[in-house]
Amino acid sequence: MRLPLKIVLVGMPGSGKSTFGRQLARELNFVFIDLDHHIEKEEGRLIKDIFAEDGEGKFRELETKYLTEALKNVEGFVLSTGGGTPCFNDNMELINEKGIAVFLDVPLETIHRRLTKDSASQRPMFFGMSAGDITLKLKDLIAVRGPYYEQAKIKLSGEDPSTELLMSELMTLLR
Ligand code: S3P
Repeated sequence: MRLPLKIVLVGMPGSGKSTFGRQLARELNFVFIDLDHHIEKEEGRLIKDIFAEDGEGKFRELETKYLTEALKNVEGFVLSTGGGTPCFNDNMELINEKGIAVFLDVPLETIHRRLTKDSASQRPMFFGMSAGDITLKLKDLIAVRGPYYEQAKIKLSGEDPSTELLMSELMTLLR
């Protein structure tokens, strides 16, 4: 039997939500939803263009709309959120009500390394920033967002979250 679990990954940009989510969904034979990609597909625009053309407020509206819709699905799925998703419009309450939130608690140094190495320039929150500015921004963001992420039912700490550990935590939670 396949349990209709709605597993929702939350955490900072660069914490590996999409990579881990895809792997987890494959192992569970669940559908995988990447919220950012879903928004881009539905809206026919890149996230960075939504930010540039309509501003962050509009993006937050869309993110809540598509999150709410996805959580109405009856089948089990793994959904990776954007870093800010749980922190706006009472989204964290909604996630906890409808699904099982998992916080990928990755060290800030790891996140910083990833963001400076690859796609910071693609991420509107870090657009055009120097490595030093990214450090400051990450510290500010985690101070504000940490309390939201901490409301997740499961927390996986460390650089490389393990799907096995998550499965055992899930089993304990569901027992
Ligand atoms: C954001 C993170 C992004 C994306 C958007 C806003 C944020 O997703 O949703 O650019 O507020 O931190 P990732 O966490 O996948 O980078």
